[in-house]
Amino acid sequence: MRDAWGIPVPPAMPSDDSERESTRRAWNESAESYRRAMRLFEPYGFDLLARVNPKIRESALDLATGLGEPAMSIARMVGPDGRVVGIDLSEQMVNLATRIAKERRIPGLTFLAMDAEKLDFPDESFDLVTSRFGFHIFADPETVAKESHRVLRPKGRIGIVVWSTAEKATAINAVVAPMLEFAEPDETGYRPRPFELGGPGELTTLLAGAGFVETQEERRTHTMVFKDEAEYIEILVEGTPLGRSIKEEDPSVQKKILAGTRANLRKWKSRKGIQIPCEGVIVTATK
Ligand SMILES: C[S@@+](CC[C@H](N)C(=O)[O-])C[C@H]1O[C@@H](n2cnc3c(N)ncnc32)[C@H](O)[C@@H]1O
Repeated sequence: MRDAWGIPVPPAMPSDDSERESTRRAWNESAESYRRAMRLFEPYGFDLLARVNPKIRESALDLATGLGEPAMSIARMVGPDGRVVGIDLSEQMVNLATRIAKERRIPGLTFLAMDAEKLDFPDESFDLVTSRFGFHIFADPETVAKESHRVLRPKGRIGIVVWSTAEKATAINAVVAPMLEFAEPDETGYRPRPFELGGPGELTTLLAGAGFVETQEERRTHTMVFKDEAEYIEILVEGTPLGRSIKEEDPSVQKKILAGTRANLRKWKSRKGIQIPCEGVIVTATK
């Protein structure tokens, strides 16, 4: 069982439904504050767009769109005669994304509250399916891959970004590693890791299992920049469900997790602030 960020939760978690509900609630609560964290993810979105190359008049579906990326960027690329739908489990994310798209006057773009595991679209409806930092959070990523395959037209493309492994997704692991120190193993003693789909070949294997061909994997490292440790915690921890997970711990454990996070960040500190690398994995495939 994983929580809203793919962090292991204690064995009390009973079913996929309650996991989904807790994910939905966590992201609903983080919708407003997530806006600042999003800027950190932009470079990975550009990597993804460069590889899936949305074309004028195409139709695209963005899974786990959050506040609307990469859906909004794709809508600009396919133009007013194209069609882009962004779906997310969290209604707050969808409401806020809709507001932002309206403010920016982006045409041909719709946001809907929907579970990526049960896509409410007919077979062969889209030319392109994307997801930026969604697949490692889905309770059942295999089902999402099969659903994506179903709604794509023949020769349709899929493009996904997830975090790399813990050692390489350094900026995320700075807080996740201390969190995991206090996470309970499940009933079999297994301690899952939040970077499960980031290992070599993991996502390409998953997509091939869903029927995709021409799978390709690429790794890209970008540097995340923060003024200081406090800004990291404000944006990346308190601005996302990570902060919520930490607050569920005892106060003494919370203190230890944050102290561990600050200690990890200090290694990347210079006069220019904290500059910390983070590897993403971009995977593309064709139906
Ligand atoms: C890390 S955010 C990514 C948001 C956006 N794509 C971005 O890159 O900024 C993950 C999103 O996945 C959504 N999510 C989690 N499980 C989902 C599911 N089963 N179906 C649809 N969305 C889901 C969450 O609500 C959250 O908005």
